[in-house]
Amino acid sequence: VTRDIWLVGIGTGSLAHITQEGLDALRRAAAILVPQKGEDKDELAEIRRRIIAESGSNADVVPFDYPVRNETLPDLDRVEHWHDEIAGLWKGAIGQAAPGPVALLVWGDPGLYDSTLRIASRLVPRAQIRVVPGITALQALTAAHAIPLSTVNGEVLVTTGRRLRDRGWPKDAITVAVMLDGQCSFQSLDPDGLRIWWGAYLGMAHQVLVEGRLAEVGPQIVTLRQEVRAQHGWIMDTYLLRKNNV
Ligand SMILES: C[S@@+](CC[C@H](N)C(=O)[O-])C[C@H]1O[C@@H](n2cnc3c(N)ncnc32)[C@H](O)[C@@H]1O
Repeated sequence: VTRDIWLVGIGTGSLAHITQEGLDALRRAAAILVPQKGEDKDELAEIRRRIIAESGSNADVVPFDYPVRNETLPDLDRVEHWHDEIAGLWKGAIGQAAPGPVALLVWGDPGLYDSTLRIASRLVPRAQIRVVPGITALQALTAAHAIPLSTVNGEVLVTTGRRLRDRGWPKDAITVAVMLDGQCSFQSLDPDGLRIWWGAYLGMAHQVLVEGRLAEVGPQIVTLRQEVRAQHGWIMDTYLLRKNNV
């Protein structure tokens, strides 16, 4: 049987980030699949539970386990294999869920550095997929700093910490947004002429922001990141780098 699968963007940690459309989807869903453990830190799992509770949804909440990544496979194979396994686990969970649309809560927006859409496309028979957009970490970052993402007529490159380390400052770039960076990869750049707008726990009560010339505040961010990470036991951060004077 083909099921409707609704991927609902929930924003980056504030209960207020989810849209009316997202709340409505949770209320109309017959079932909501929630990861049991694995990638989700306790605090993030708690946010998901509260969003479901506060939406007023009566949907059947169906837990599914996260598979462990097979560390013996090479990188890309490992991800493929891992996604196949998750799709299999979803399938099992969906089989036990009440008939009707099945919703999944997706951190931020399903379209940005998230595999949920790729996993959903593996379901056989293919599901009817609906995406409800959410506030991304990039939007939460630029809003928190009250800055525009783009300059007048300028382009923006969104990348990962690893790519930034591997290729350095992208040629001719004006604005570079960096996500998925576990190690403050801006340290690998020549900081001269660059400004940074950094944010961690965006949208949450303990959000932290730092802004300034990279040469000056870069080292402060490295220290602060270690401190707050130790305090909370986990961290998610995002930053924007821009050439000075644009
Ligand atoms: C797997 S990606 C998911 C992105 C998400 N789909 C979105 O739309 O923002 C995780 C990365 O998003 C960023 N991120 C997500 N939530 C964040 C938050 N509350 N504060 C800062 N960065 C966050 C971090 O760069 C983190 O490494």
